[in-house]
Order: sequence, then C-alpha cells, then structure tokens
Amino acid sequence: MSSIKLAQAKTSSLYGKDCLTLLDYTSEEILHLVEEGLQMKKFPIQSILSGKILAMIFEKSSTRTRVSFEAGMQQLGGNALFLSSQDLQIGRGESIADTAKVLSGYVDAIMIRTFEHEKVEELALHASVPVINGLTDTFHPCQALADLMTILQLKQTFKGTKVAYVGDGNNVAHSLLIACAKVGMDAVIAHPEGYGPDPSVMEKIAEICELTGAVITSTSNPEKAVHEADIVYSDVWTSMGQEKENEIRLTAFHAYQINAELMSGAKKDCHFLHCLPAHRGEEVTAEIIDGSHSAVFQQAENRLHVQKALLKELLIG
Ligand code: CP
Ligand code: NVA
Repeated sequence: MSSIKLAQAKTSSLYGKDCLTLLDYTSEEILHLVEEGLQMKKFPIQSILSGKILAMIFEKSSTRTRVSFEAGMQQLGGNALFLSSQDLQIGRGESIADTAKVLSGYVDAIMIRTFEHEKVEELALHASVPVINGLTDTFHPCQALADLMTILQLKQTFKGTKVAYVGDGNNVAHSLLIACAKVGMDAVIAHPEGYGPDPSVMEKIAEICELTGAVITSTSNPEKAVHEADIVYSDVWTSMGQEKENEIRLTAFHAYQINAELMSGAKKDCHFLHCLPAHRGEEVTAEIIDGSHSAVFQQAENRLHVQKALLKELLIG
C-alpha cells in the first residue's frame, strides 16, 4: 500500500512485482513458483497472508480464476474482494488510472480479468501494489503456471517432454508456449490458417528458445503436431469476447478436434489437458476429456496451489 512499488524494499526477486505475462519472469522465477505450488499443495493451510487483501476486478466471466484466488487468499489467512466492473465506477467511465490509485490505498494486490492487455498494463502502471493478470485477450499467465505444475506432476520433467497444443492461437496458447519456452520444454501448436498465435509473441518466444534450448514450432497439421506427444492440450475455439464469430470458427476449426483418432497418434501414456471451460463435441470429445488420458481436473485444482505460491511471492517474498 506504499506509494512506490515494493520491489526495491525486499530481496526476493518477485516481491512487489506485477504478474502481467510470464515474458517478464525469468526461467528460475517460474520454476520456483511451480515448485512452491507443489509445496502449497502438500501444506495447504498457512496464515502467511494474514491481514492482506486482494481486489479482484472481473470484466469477463470466471469460475476457476475467481474461486481459486478467493479460496487461496482465505487459506493463506487473507481476504479477497470480488469486484464486477459493472458495479465499479469503471463501468461508468472512471479511468483505469484513477481506479488503480484508489484501490492501491485500500488493498495489497489487484487481480484483473479483462479484454485488452493494454488495460492491465495501464492498471499496473498506476497501481502501487502488485497487479496480477487473471486473463486478457492476449495472455493468461496464471493458467500457464498451473499447466507447468500439472505437467511436472504428470511427467516429472520438462526436458524431453513434448507438448502439442491444437486449436486457436489465443491467450491460453500464448502463455502456454511462453511457459514451455521458459522451462526448456518442446512444444508445437497446430492451428488453421489465419488463427495462429500473434507473430510478435512468437518472435519473443523464439528469443527465449535461444536461451533455453526449447524447440517451439507451429503447423497447420494436427496429426503432425500430436505425433509422439506427451501432452495434448486444447482450448475453446471461441474465446470470451469473440461470440459473434462462433459459427465461422466452428467451421474453421472443424478438423482440429481432439478425439480418439487424433489422440492415437500421441504417445500411449499421453495426457490430455484443457484450461476449461470445455465444449464437449467441439474442441474435444467427451470420450477424451472424460477418459483415462485426461488430467483436466488436476490441472484446474493446481490453479489454487500455484496462485497461492504467486500471491506469497508477490506479497511477502
Ligand atoms: N481456466 C480459467 O481461467 O477458467 P475460468 O474462466 O473459469 O476462470
Ligand atoms: N481462451 C479462453 C480461455 C478461458 C479460460 C477465453 O479467453 O475465453
């Protein structure tokens, strides 16, 4: 709640920082968060955030992000405030900058789920407390941290593990690919023409790969992508805010469904992941998401554990 970001005040590398995208975090910081998430799972109740308050601004719907952050704060002894943008004055035109400055006087961190990524950057610029991106149109870093934690639980190692993401080059895909690049894990994205990841994000991913040795590629061929994959990942074809494009997207992504036939090209012991919510019969069949390869509920639970690790690091170091 001080007027300067707290980063200078303590030695822990993430103390007082924002979490807008994993591009801003080092490989070591990301690995540390994932390992701490595993610890949080082992030892769930610790009152380390007693007296701390997290404001949570939602401009889009949420089940996992809202409940996992709220439950996480409570388990750590703190509190979370659910703030719908419809109820806040930002819904009536108050600026993001003023909102950031005002909230910084009341709470210890702000989590926001919104549309344009620039809005989160604007909030972070004017807030004197850490700002956490709970999903924008471009990134979903908290999801990617949970994805890494889940992959580590399932495969015990990132090196030599192959991730195949099949579908839209969206917020979840961007953050997953960044996370893979940061930890040196190979990944491929298969997407229809015109629905690939943002080229500027892929450029940054290529730079990270130079440092970590990860190989991240893209293809339009889903069979090629899942070939010998350890992890097959999908997300919805129509993200929040794109509802008007639903019909055209259903057609464009038709050949990108994760079904038994496509999964048969992956490794026998492969796992299926999905950030949820899922649309059975669209991006994935019920047989796969509800079948033996699926680890989606373990993945969803891990949002809680790894975000508790994140909150601890940002708020107390
Ligand atoms: N995966 C995810 O962010 O879920 P919610 O939209 O329910 O928060
Ligand atoms: N890509 C999806 C993810 C939801 C968690 C969306 O933005 O709607």
